[in-house]
Amino acid sequence: MKRRVFSGARPTGRQHLGNYLGAIQNYVALQDEYQCIYCIVDIHALTSLEDTSQLQENIHEMVLDWLAAGLDPKKSILFVQSHVPEVMELHTLLGMTTPLGWLLRVPTFKEKVKLQPHNVNYGLVGYPVLMTADIVLYKAEVVPVGEDQLPHLELAREIVRRFNNIFGDTFPEPQAKLTPFPMVLGLDGKEKMSKQLDNHIELALSPEETLERVMTAVTDPARRYRHDPGHPEVCNIYRLQQYFNEFKSGGIAEQCRRAQIGCVECKELLADAINTMLQPFRQRRAAIAAEPQYVTDVLADGARRARLIARRTLKEVKQRMGLI
Ligand code: AMP
Ligand code: TRP
Repeated sequence: MKRRVFSGARPTGRQHLGNYLGAIQNYVALQDEYQCIYCIVDIHALTSLEDTSQLQENIHEMVLDWLAAGLDPKKSILFVQSHVPEVMELHTLLGMTTPLGWLLRVPTFKEKVKLQPHNVNYGLVGYPVLMTADIVLYKAEVVPVGEDQLPHLELAREIVRRFNNIFGDTFPEPQAKLTPFPMVLGLDGKEKMSKQLDNHIELALSPEETLERVMTAVTDPARRYRHDPGHPEVCNIYRLQQYFNEFKSGGIAEQCRRAQIGCVECKELLADAINTMLQPFRQRRAAIAAEPQYVTDVLADGARRARLIARRTLKEVKQRMGLI
């Protein structure tokens, strides 16, 4: 039997370059070697969402991106978290062996408390327990994620170790798998690229919109005039050049250092390269979007397949915990 991969992402709608370079690239690459399970974590989203009116649309837009990027429902299971409610049962059970102190120390919990002081809900504390339940419900061994998720993965491993110690070997310890771009910075050049911070570039933008977004990016702050020599190693646009203009990027860096190329020109080169690389993705996306029933069918089939595995694991867990 193939070893399992699991990953989840919150239904934030259209995916951005950070999602793609940090995670989706690996989701696609792992599909042949592993049995891959990819989940849209709508319950996790509720820990931060007060207005849920966009939720269904966001799920749909996200699946369009995943499919267009190359996730293949014939190979992988794609599903929505709440469609396999067994995960919430496992979450409750894992909650009984997870010390509260571990959860209160998680850096993302502390960040959320600062970000949404008016909504420090119980679900936020349990966020990493639910995430662990996601992974171990499928006994997944490999978890492709961006760097921001590493503290969660570390905690998942501790939760697994503790559970296995108390009730006997049940779950494998999941390992994170990073891409060469595990932390893509946003257009501000400071924070990680994210929709919430509006410093992102969506994959599904038109070529014109892509150019417009790239033009707003902050570059090397020391380069104030066209004739100032640049420092590509501190420039976020240059980091993206290394991916999208891989073969030209050495030359671009040299020209930047000698002030032979300006930031505007450099950004135009980048936007061109992004648009060229994403053209097939955008075509596929438009074709899939024309058949909304297809997305519904993919998710229904994914939930059915995921549930078969989930039920088996949950039964084993209940037996080990003495519930049956
Ligand atoms: P999210 O949209 O925050 O639920 O993230 C979905 C996946 O994309 C997770 O594996 C994240 O770690 C990854 N990701 C999100 N933003 C970035 C970023 N700026 N750079 C690298 N990976 C990211
Ligand atoms: N916490 C992840 C994020 O914010 C989403 C997620 C939920 C996840 N469950 C998961 C990622 C399981 C990997 C494995 O992006």
